[in-house]
Amino acid sequence: MLELSRVVLGRALYDYVETPAFEDTELFARGVGESTDVVQKEMFTFEDKAGRSLTLRPEGTASICRAYVEHGMHKRAQPVKVWYWGPFFRHEAPQAGRFRQFAQVGAEVLGTDEPTADAELILLLAELLDAAGCREVRLRVSSLGNPATRSAYRAELREWLRPRESELSEPVRARLDLNPLRAFDSDDPGTQAVMAEAPTLLDRLTDEDAAHFAEVRALLDSAGLEYGVDPGLVRGLDYYTRTVFEFESGVLGAQAALGGGGRYDGLVELLGGPPTPGVGWAAGIERILLAADPPEDTGGDDGQRIFVAVAKPERRAEAFELVSELRGRLVEADLDHTTRSLKGQLKQADRVGAHYTVIMGETTEFKDMRTGDQREMAVADVLKKFGDG
Ligand code: HAM
Repeated sequence: MLELSRVVLGRALYDYVETPAFEDTELFARGVGESTDVVQKEMFTFEDKAGRSLTLRPEGTASICRAYVEHGMHKRAQPVKVWYWGPFFRHEAPQAGRFRQFAQVGAEVLGTDEPTADAELILLLAELLDAAGCREVRLRVSSLGNPATRSAYRAELREWLRPRESELSEPVRARLDLNPLRAFDSDDPGTQAVMAEAPTLLDRLTDEDAAHFAEVRALLDSAGLEYGVDPGLVRGLDYYTRTVFEFESGVLGAQAALGGGGRYDGLVELLGGPPTPGVGWAAGIERILLAADPPEDTGGDDGQRIFVAVAKPERRAEAFELVSELRGRLVEADLDHTTRSLKGQLKQADRVGAHYTVIMGETTEFKDMRTGDQREMAVADVLKKFGDG
């Protein structure tokens, strides 16, 4: 997956970056948002020896924006396109597909609000999930507009829900004041029935935001990517504006989200930088692997993996040298690092998926593991068979 990400994102000229595994708690509290589950319940927060409050990163976007501000990246040619990969931490109840430490690959584009950036990112994640072999992938997109539209809509939705409060689930009722939009996320049938009738934010977008969303969709359409527009798509983090999207897999069960993201045009400014639009996504590696077809046999039929077995201890140094020579010719090779019997070593050759085994005893034998053919071959001829070095 790491290699695949490097290829797919590198081809679109994204630069690889790494940010620290922990940051000031304040960064996530402000960046991700005080009203989110992530900040309220899921952060691993601790004090260091100097009494500073630190938090294991629950997500990557706030850190990328922090780095953008801290390293003056707004002075570079815009946009800045980066991707990252690494461990993230959320204090959630572990279950299938949900872990307290998980790996994410993510991509962010800072410094442009052009819809081509949104569409490029969505297409890249679609390509990555497809290349990883994820099954039954579905994409939902929506737009959250700008903060003013959203806050007016939030007030409207709250007032609309008030008289229907008795039909809503308890957790939704409890958060009605803080974040009524989360009601769209509920899996409670009563709440869902109410929300199906609710006014949607998509119907309240300004002309400019609606045009932006239409352009993103037109770009996805012309690329031939299938998606559904879901006015109830709410993401779990507060920083989003305009485009939001989520990919899920039908084979994953309850934790179906493979990856998601959206625009966060106010985040850099919120963190002390100049007004800078941004857009990006992150995807969960474990979930991608769970949703993917089982990987193919490592070597493949035409592989050239070689295992060197030592039947005569005096030839161990020679075996070591042969392995180094083969690796130098870019051939996958290994020798037995234990003192197993020859039989044990041949079993080990099978276990590591060797296509050929070189047996160094009284003579040097070359064995084709697929056909079982075995014949004497000088070490120099083995090397010749695998390139001139
Ligand atoms: P997120 O939706 O919170 O977005 O997480 C992205 C993906 O990380 C999820 O779709 C899921 O696959 C995976 N994930 C999240 N929590 C867990 C967990 N506890 N166990 C396993 N996998 C998990 C973000 O993190 C945003 N930073 C995405 C973004 C980037 N938005 C804009 N730029």
